[in-house]
Amino acid sequence: MHKQTFLIALVLSVAYGQDRKITSKLNPNCSDCTSEQTLVYIKAEGPKDTIHQVWDFTTGAPTIIYAISSHNSSMSIEWDRQEPIKFALNDSKYSFAASIDKIYEYNDLKDIGHIDPSSMQHEHSLRRMSWHRNSSVLTEKEASVVLVGHNKNNWDAGYINIKLDFLPFNGYAVELPHLVHTSNSTLVDVGLVNLSTWRGFNSSRFALHFVLVSTDSETETMRYTMRKSLDDEHTPGVFEIIEIKTPESYKSDDGGFIQFRPVGYTEPLRGVSSSTNAHISNFTKVDMPNKSTLGVFYRDVSDSDLLVQDMFISFGLPGDGFYKKHNYTAWSFTMGYGKPPIEGFSLFVIMIISVGLGVPVLLAVSGITYVLVRRYRQRNAPARFIDDE
Ligand SMILES: *[C@@H]1O[C@H](CO)[C@@H](O)[C@H](O)[C@H]1NC(C)=O
Ligand SMILES: *[C@@H]1O[C@H](CO)[C@@H](O)[C@H](O)[C@H]1NC(C)=O
Ligand SMILES: *[C@@H]1O[C@H](CO)[C@@H](O)[C@H](O)[C@H]1NC(C)=O
Ligand SMILES: *[C@@H]1O[C@H](CO)[C@@H](O)[C@H](O)[C@H]1NC(C)=O
Ligand SMILES: *[C@@H]1O[C@H](CO)[C@@H](O)[C@H](O)[C@H]1NC(C)=O
Repeated sequence: MHKQTFLIALVLSVAYGQDRKITSKLNPNCSDCTSEQTLVYIKAEGPKDTIHQVWDFTTGAPTIIYAISSHNSSMSIEWDRQEPIKFALNDSKYSFAASIDKIYEYNDLKDIGHIDPSSMQHEHSLRRMSWHRNSSVLTEKEASVVLVGHNKNNWDAGYINIKLDFLPFNGYAVELPHLVHTSNSTLVDVGLVNLSTWRGFNSSRFALHFVLVSTDSETETMRYTMRKSLDDEHTPGVFEIIEIKTPESYKSDDGGFIQFRPVGYTEPLRGVSSSTNAHISNFTKVDMPNKSTLGVFYRDVSDSDLLVQDMFISFGLPGDGFYKKHNYTAWSFTMGYGKPPIEGFSLFVIMIISVGLGVPVLLAVSGITYVLVRRYRQRNAPARFIDDE
């Protein structure tokens, strides 16, 4: 009896317990930082390795860096006033990063719903964006920040909203599209709210410009894959899951990945009726952005051992009235280390499947049993009864 209870407790704690021990700090070691600077350092210790994450907004472009070390080491950060100038981690064995360094506005005159080289474009660098921290949770169970970015020269009262959330256990995000989070990945929500559009454009849409970096050979490339899920119970109407894998991840599942559903939302209340397409572009090799946190972080890695590529995520559907119809676009992705998680079936779906498969099996079994029993009885029945039949 006791053994059973213990086993159940063990299974439950493995299933729902925290897989990594986390410690997080805001602006570690920065004496000149105020409430207007945000750099979060998170250390997540697991049994085999330690994941170090840096979420940086101090240089304008939102940047997420992952570094994996085999030992229980800590990263130390040096600052020049309010900007990081050195990141030191003594046994980093792999690292990858993503940064949204620009927002593109494109005039979608053909109304195709995604950015295209032939459309007129206007780029907004986030280099001088100021980010205000609306909330932060830095506990042993969760690390999360919500920031609002303004750029007074560009967007009047409009703003960019970003939420980063690291929940170190397996689960689904509360908000649509209910992406899977694990102890090895972080949830990211980005919202483009009430941005004023460029005067010369009448069909404006927005796109996020990403710079992706990994400590793979410069000659490699990031990989794109699209999976179809069996059901759409977590994200109604959306069956596709898109994954970007770093070369190391593509080869042996121990590199970095970005995972998302090709769906964005045009209203703060997310739902099927407020959804739009999120379209991913090809990857292109680029130089490390100037004066960026990425540049500082990877300064000591030689160019040939560093893969730097860019891509766009653009939003829209033909005939949807462009950005100005709602003045709102939001999108979510996760970024993580290792094998990208696969969403499982919920209890409800398992029950449906069991009933669906169970009833025919039950019928078949009872039918066979009936026939067998009948035959057995017939064979053993007294001879005179056989004639009666
Ligand atoms: C890792 O190091 C920190 C301090 O450096 C210590 O508090 C923690 O217990 C260590 N964890 C393990 C698993 O050794
Ligand atoms: C997280 O990564 C570790 C290895 O670093 C692996 O053992 C573990 O299974 C991963 N967890 C999930 C949920 O992917
Ligand atoms: C956008 O601006 C409109 C009108 O100025 C306002 O009603 C709305 O609440 C704003 N949207 C958000 C998400 O702040
Ligand atoms: C936008 O402007 C172009 C000319 O620059 C015009 O041909 C087109 O019809 C306009 N589109 C809309 C939706 O107003
Ligand atoms: C979006 O903003 C533009 C001005 O920037 C305004 O003309 C338009 O009415 C707004 N649309 C909505 C749905 O609020």
